[in-house]
Amino acid sequence: MSTVFLNHQYLPMEEARISPMDRGFLFGDGIYEVIPSYNGKMVGFGPHIQRMRNGLAAIGIQFDWDESAWREVCDQLIQRNGSGNLGLYLHVSRGADSKRFHAYPEGVAPTVFAYAFEIAPPPVPDRSQATGYKVATARDLRWQRCHIKSTALLGNVLHFQYGYEQGANETLLYNSNNELTEASACNAYIVKDGVVITPPLDNQILPGITRQLLLDILRRDGSITVEERAVTMDEVFNADEVWVTSSSKEIAPVVEIDGKPVADGKVGPVWEAALKLYSAAKFDY
Ligand code: PDD
Repeated sequence: MSTVFLNHQYLPMEEARISPMDRGFLFGDGIYEVIPSYNGKMVGFGPHIQRMRNGLAAIGIQFDWDESAWREVCDQLIQRNGSGNLGLYLHVSRGADSKRFHAYPEGVAPTVFAYAFEIAPPPVPDRSQATGYKVATARDLRWQRCHIKSTALLGNVLHFQYGYEQGANETLLYNSNNELTEASACNAYIVKDGVVITPPLDNQILPGITRQLLLDILRRDGSITVEERAVTMDEVFNADEVWVTSSSKEIAPVVEIDGKPVADGKVGPVWEAALKLYSAAKFDY
């Protein structure tokens, strides 16, 4: 996993250098993506690139690479780094200015960085083999533009660390109305009476691509009902199942929240059915 892409060049990671004046470094002023790839096949490439373009437009970074330009970089990273289970990290920052000044600089070229890292194999849709997640909970104290996939992730880092220090795999977050938002690096769901329920898209959550694919796959199949609506933390604690999703984990079942079991503390049947459907259809996106 050593060949990276930096500003139109492929080079060993050890040789990749950026300026300390890069606004990604100084301000976290950039947008990123993580695309999963299994044996050379990417999941959700088009939707990931569309979200990146939306993010760049939202923060006024003029960078007009289309799908084919990004596909070339992704294909090269897969070729050069082996085609196992990879996360393809794509990153565009506003670039390096000569001075530290908050306003957007003129005439500065964005910095483009991409690399591949190993991810776990996709989870197997079998309850008996699944490892359940333990999560902590915390009041969501990030900014109010969580729909932008900004490289400025300190808020997420602090929330993740809080759970990590208690031995949790993730931290579920809730807003001032005691409603679930998402997790520090995942979207979140509950299952109640067979219905999969997840908070609606707004400024409080990232529009996750795994979420987008999963909801589309479930709705097309029709055997599992899906609702996008506000979810209170009381509902979370009384759910039959709780899941978190992200590109590197797909759908992870949560079996313990703040040290208490979710329902009977076992991985649930709706998770297994949903992951089966997701696994069968994910490469169609
Ligand atoms: N995390 N919410 C947050 C805050 C995230 O950081 C992520 C992804 C998600 C899930 O989005 P997607 O399904 O598109 O991966 C939701 C990535 C993987 C990360 O930062 O490493």
